[in-house]
Amino acid sequence: MTDIETLHTVAELRARVRAWRANGERVALVPTMGALHAGHVALMEAAHRHADRIVVSIFVNPTQFAPTEDLARYPRTLDADRDKASAAGVDVAFAPDAVEMYPNGFATTVSLAGPALGLETDFRPTHFAGVATVVAKLFTQTTPDVALFGEKDYQQLAVVTRMARDLDLPVQVIGVPTVRESDGLALSSRNIYLSAEERRTAPLLYRALNEAAGAIRSGLPVAGAIEAARDAVRQGGFALDYLDARHAETLAPIAALGDGPIRLLVAARLGATRLIDNIPVPD
Ligand code: PAF
Repeated sequence: MTDIETLHTVAELRARVRAWRANGERVALVPTMGALHAGHVALMEAAHRHADRIVVSIFVNPTQFAPTEDLARYPRTLDADRDKASAAGVDVAFAPDAVEMYPNGFATTVSLAGPALGLETDFRPTHFAGVATVVAKLFTQTTPDVALFGEKDYQQLAVVTRMARDLDLPVQVIGVPTVRESDGLALSSRNIYLSAEERRTAPLLYRALNEAAGAIRSGLPVAGAIEAARDAVRQGGFALDYLDARHAETLAPIAALGDGPIRLLVAARLGATRLIDNIPVPD
C-alpha cells in the first residue's frame, strides 16, 4: 500500500505547489511516462539534492508517439509507479488523463529546430514536437525550480534545455547520468520487450559506443571510428537507424576531436524493439 498523494488535475497540482511556495520551499519536477525503473529513481534521488518538494508526473503522452509506434502497448503500471515514487521520497504523483492535458480543440505545439534536427527526428519526425509541447505544459503547470531528465534520452535533454532557454521558462533543466545494467545495457521501460536472446545481444550497443570513443581518444579519425562502430552494430544483428558523433550541446555534426565536446549517439532495432544509447567521448 502506498501513501503518496496522487493528483489528477492541473488545478489540484497548482494549489499544492502554491502551498509549498508559501512556505518558501523549492520544487523539483521529474517528468515520466510511468513504468518506473531504477533510472527514474536516480532522477528522484538527484531531485532531493536540488529541492524540498518533488513532483513526479506520470503521463503516457500520446502526441510523442507516431501512429505506427507502441502507444497502445506502452506499459501502464500506476500502482507500482506510485509505490516506487513513494519509496523514493516523492511528495506528489501527478497523473492527469489525456483530456486534462489535451482539452477539446487543442491546437498548439512547440516548433523546434537546433538540437531537434536529425538523429531521432530522421526516424520519428513528430516525436520531439510532442515531447516539447507536453514538457512545456508540465513546466507551466508545476512551475518547478528544477526539472530532471535522464541522459539516456540525450537528444530529448538537449531539446528541452534549448526550449527552456529560448522560451525563458524559469526552470533549471538538469541531466542525470544513465543508469545501466551490470552488462552495460541502459535501463529503459522498453527493455521488457526484448526476448531472452535479444537481451543477451543488447549490451553490444554500449560496447560499440565505448570502442568508438576509445578509438577517437587514441587519435583515430572520427569518421573511421564511427564507421567501424556502425559495422559492429549491424554485424551484431541490429538494424541500425543511426550511430553518429555530435557536438555535445548543439548536437551539430562534429568532425574531429578538439572541435568541441563530443557525444556519440546510437539508435538501433533488435527485432521489434528500438533501443537508444549515448556516451561522451572524454576530453
Ligand atoms: O522521457 C520521457 O519519459 C518522456 O519523453 C517525457 C519527458 C516524460 C515527456 O512525455
